[in-house]
Amino acid sequence: PARLEFLDVDSVEGMVDAIHRLAVRGAPAIGCAGAYGVVIGMRGADAEEPQQAGRRLDRVAAELDAARPTAVNLGWAVRRMGSCGHAFLEGGSTGGLQTVLLEEALRIHEEDAEMCRRMGVFGASLLADGDTCLTVCNAGALATGGQGTALSVFYEADRAGKAVSVFAPETRPLLQGARLTSWELMQSGIDVTLITDGMVAAVMAGSSVAACVVGSDRIAANGDVANKIGTYGMALLAHAHGIPFYVVAPTSTIDPDTPSGPDIPIEERDPVEVTAGFGPRTAPAGVQVFSPAFDVTPAAFVTAIITEKGVIESPDMESVAAHLAGPPAALPGQSA
Ligand code: MRU
Repeated sequence: PARLEFLDVDSVEGMVDAIHRLAVRGAPAIGCAGAYGVVIGMRGADAEEPQQAGRRLDRVAAELDAARPTAVNLGWAVRRMGSCGHAFLEGGSTGGLQTVLLEEALRIHEEDAEMCRRMGVFGASLLADGDTCLTVCNAGALATGGQGTALSVFYEADRAGKAVSVFAPETRPLLQGARLTSWELMQSGIDVTLITDGMVAAVMAGSSVAACVVGSDRIAANGDVANKIGTYGMALLAHAHGIPFYVVAPTSTIDPDTPSGPDIPIEERDPVEVTAGFGPRTAPAGVQVFSPAFDVTPAAFVTAIITEKGVIESPDMESVAAHLAGPPAALPGQSA
């Protein structure tokens, strides 16, 4: 929260490490980073035989995909890079492969930025001037290739002249809410109040919270939503308090190959992030630790999923499939 630093990555190992230790994090951002990682990993491939380059492409893509398991955007992006590379190699030559891969990575990044903007506009149409919202973790510009997923909703509401204020839970153990979301919203002039994770219920009981607005790392085919640990608890509390619970994620986060929430692989993190995350030890040496990075909110507790194509109300297997297959909705205020 005290410094803005840029990290240059120039090897696949460096990119895997950056993704694994969360130097780059957030589902859409690790998708973009994975795509650029493929470009880095294929340097020099223009001089190889097509078969050799194809094998290297598969190896690099697999290494990057394995960096973190839950966010499907990473696998989605490296698979897209792999398909692009293999389609090019079918032409029987490697000359120009690197340029084609770089162009595809740039496209993934640009498309992500545009999806962020559109999700923000759709989401902002659900908020009113003066609304107070809750979010979790960081789902903003520091988590995507654009202005964010959940936080994009606040940016677009602000742009539309609706003043919104946001409660940001710290998000233990890695404090993305404290370190990133509160910093990001302050930079943008959005009214933000930092709370600890245990305060969410009290905030719902004591303030009039209009909506919870969160991101996602993977949405199963039936609409179950994996997101940062603590999201499920927030959704249950929102349900108990009658507060709408909105999930904002691009369609690249929806995984039709994962039938339901229990099928989503949940990353477990190093215990040290809980016992001594930022310096001094805060738990006894040797204590057992359980540290899943994500949890799953059943679709029944999700009021709507907002993608770049529009809004899926009360998501379930049918509505999610129809949304993926259907055309994008017109942005609010624009004709189709
Ligand atoms: O472990 P992180 O920091 O990568 O977790 C990120 C989240 O849980 C975000 O909410 C999610 O990726 C959506 S971001 C646009």
